[in-house]
Amino acid sequence: MKNIISASMLASDLTNIEKEIHRTENAQVEWLHIDVMDGVFVDNITYGNNVVAAMRKVSDIYFDTHLMVTDPTNLIPLFALAGSNMLTIHLESKGNTTANLKYIKKSGMNAGLAIKPATDWKEVIPYLPLCDMVLVMTVEPGYGGQGFIPQCADKVAMLRKYCNENGFDKMNIQVDGGINTATAATVKDAGANVLVAGTYLFRAVDMKAAADAIR
Ligand code: DX5
Ligand code: ZN
Repeated sequence: MKNIISASMLASDLTNIEKEIHRTENAQVEWLHIDVMDGVFVDNITYGNNVVAAMRKVSDIYFDTHLMVTDPTNLIPLFALAGSNMLTIHLESKGNTTANLKYIKKSGMNAGLAIKPATDWKEVIPYLPLCDMVLVMTVEPGYGGQGFIPQCADKVAMLRKYCNENGFDKMNIQVDGGINTATAATVKDAGANVLVAGTYLFRAVDMKAAADAIR
């Protein structure tokens, strides 16, 4: 399985989003990770579907959209229209997860399901047939620049083993939070193949070299 890097724009210079998107493309980073926070599911508020639609006008990069919101259902068609490629919802959000994952697929996007550090990895099992990706959070959602929680790598390993043994060997397993050269090695060993990195990539002097180093 090819490893994919997804640059979390939360750590980018938000006064110049277009320049930062192009910097990401020039670094040959595969995906752009867009953290949508509603101020209720997590403490922060970030950006929404209108900002994503504006970004879509200046780039064709794969938009990996991470919804940290209380109730995602009504937002699904809005992000499809805005140009999101992947839409990841949280298992801990309100609403019917099965129906929401089906709605994401029906809207023409890839479907992701995220779990917070305290959520048991086994809770995603019933939803695997509806998922293109499972996101195992490696920090508490809400802020960039936090330290990686080592126990979360064990969840990745158990999930990858389960997927391999149960016909989900193509499943993308994403990690998000505290990824750098040291923690990237740990999560890849555990079986993650999509690595989100914010602070590490956007603070790097040479983003391409930094992305290559963790890929
Ligand atoms: C946290 C976000 C992450 C965050 C990662 O709630 O989901 O995507 O931006 O940032 P770093 O890589 O700086 O930990
Ligand atoms: Zn994220």
